[in-house]
Amino acid sequence: MTKQASVFAHRGVSGDYPENTMEAFEAALRSGVAGIELDVQLTKDGELAVIHDEQIDRTTDGIGYIKEFSYDQLKRFDAGSWFSSKFEGSSIPTLKNVFDWAVMPGNDLTINIELKNDQLPYEGMEEKVLDLIEQYKLEERIIISSFNPESLKKVRSLQKTIEIGYLIIGIPENAVETAKKIGANAIHCQPEFALSSFGQEAIEKGFPLRVYTVNDPHEQNPLLEAGVEVIMSDFPERFMNN
Ligand code: G3P
Ligand code: MG
Repeated sequence: MTKQASVFAHRGVSGDYPENTMEAFEAALRSGVAGIELDVQLTKDGELAVIHDEQIDRTTDGIGYIKEFSYDQLKRFDAGSWFSSKFEGSSIPTLKNVFDWAVMPGNDLTINIELKNDQLPYEGMEEKVLDLIEQYKLEERIIISSFNPESLKKVRSLQKTIEIGYLIIGIPENAVETAKKIGANAIHCQPEFALSSFGQEAIEKGFPLRVYTVNDPHEQNPLLEAGVEVIMSDFPERFMNN
């Protein structure tokens, strides 16, 4: 029998709730998934804001770069109405807000923190994330990922045991080599990589594959047969209990 993969809610249950909000994460917890994936950017005053884009334009009622706002300014923007008027008043959480929620009784979700430092450098982001993880003693429940291999190398140099996922797009030929150089534990990839010979080689060489973003349930069986460890989905419930 093919092994069941774990399911992570991508940006929370972002198919049904505004992405990267506490509402989307709470829905993930209710759904019974194993984990959530979220994205972090750095504000002007050095807060870790949980939001996907470098700018707030797409997912709030404001415009501008995260790095140009203090978190106090940022939290006033509405991060729910763009998705549905039902979520009016929702705000951009900080990573600390997420951790306060994650340590509440009954919550043992794995948290995949994607450092969004592949577009903007965000000096000091790695230290801030690691300090917060240490403060909350969440080391065993965290996976840090990024499309920026240099940043992941830095994370590994600062923290020897934390789980690191090297994020790739498409089918790069040197993914395993780079993952090794970084000191990563896993590769976070798209379905086409998992289904390719490179993906199979990665698994054979000891790098579990966590696949993003899978929303069509028809894609599930081939991925399970390919041996992926985690499926990340905006609609995680489509991939559970079957
Ligand atoms: O971490 C997996 C996935 O979230 C990477 O792409 O653009 O959805 O953050 P993106
Ligand atoms: Mg992401």
